[in-house]
Amino acid sequence: MAREAVFAAFRKTANQAPEAAVYAPGRVNLIGEHTDYNEGFVLPAAVDRGVALAARRVAGDTFTLHAVDLGDSCTFPRGSLQRDPKHPWADYFKGVVWALSNRGINIPACEAAITGDIPQGAGLSSSAAYEVATVLLLRTLDGFELSSLEVAQLARQAENGFVGVACGIMDQMASTFGEKGRALLLDCRSLARETVALPLGLKIVVAGSGVRHSLASSEYNQRRAECEEGVRILSASLPTVHALRDVMPEDLARFLPALPPVVARRCRHVVSENARVGQAVTAMRSGDTDRLKTLMAASHASLRDDYEVSCPELDILVELALALPYCHGARLTGAGFGGSTVNLVEADAIEPFSETIVSGYRQRSGRVAEIHVFEPSAGARVLAPG
Ligand code: GLA
Repeated sequence: MAREAVFAAFRKTANQAPEAAVYAPGRVNLIGEHTDYNEGFVLPAAVDRGVALAARRVAGDTFTLHAVDLGDSCTFPRGSLQRDPKHPWADYFKGVVWALSNRGINIPACEAAITGDIPQGAGLSSSAAYEVATVLLLRTLDGFELSSLEVAQLARQAENGFVGVACGIMDQMASTFGEKGRALLLDCRSLARETVALPLGLKIVVAGSGVRHSLASSEYNQRRAECEEGVRILSASLPTVHALRDVMPEDLARFLPALPPVVARRCRHVVSENARVGQAVTAMRSGDTDRLKTLMAASHASLRDDYEVSCPELDILVELALALPYCHGARLTGAGFGGSTVNLVEADAIEPFSETIVSGYRQRSGRVAEIHVFEPSAGARVLAPG
């Protein structure tokens, strides 16, 4: 476990005990995909795997970082923060130092160790967990004031402005505000949030496709631009529309023919997905798992056909899962373009579920599916010395 391992890892690399240690979880999104940057609704849950950091302040201006799992280390001066293709894993930490200094918070240098137990590149937000953990670590070491909401916002600024990925706020909010046993319903415009219990007896099972598309980041940015184009055109006729969040399904139906076909499909996904989030929360609260399954299947179909962010491997995983009576929901989770699916599975059927998915996926794709069972978990926290 990353939480326990980080103390020993720091002692081993730095030859002394850390002054502070923190942990932040990854996330899985149950529904509400590509809605966050459209100021809409999302329903993620923090998971019981994440990233842990431990550190001590040091004299001088040089930071030293140890990526324990990679067996790699690097140093960098506070005065010139630059992305480093030789140590790309350090960019997230540097991004946080950069975002803090933009806020006028200049922290003293430190030596830090980083370790994690969340799969990377699987659509489970390992980078958001790392950034949130870094903000929390530096706040703990240096004692500056920053609310939990600001922790999440600053972590996102690091990703947007320094790492260079134009992500929304969902992942950092889930990592910061996760709650044990519950998903987080988040309004990405007001940042208002409430939690929703998972239906009794269901577990979150993630199936990693083992596929990762190199164009993911440019495709992601292109989807964002297509949504903005939709807003630009729609707001000419509907002045109250500032983001796709403001478009009601009935309005969209009227204006769809006026939009270029690709933009129309992107808008149709976002508008329908936003509506599905509210419907899924109602289904979860009333224990209507059949409805939940239908909504999650509709979300996947919309991501596949209208938003075009799925891939054949994710489609196979979802198809296999939806055929199983003890699976009450399956869809791709995260940005797509490879990555993982999220499945809601009856607790006593995890084994047959995993076996059926792994063997069916191997037969149809020739690949190995990586199965994880996750507990919805508490968000980022400071760790007591171990
Ligand atoms: C990535 C981004 C999130 C969100 C999802 C899609 O995970 O980091 O902000 O946009 O994709 O829902």
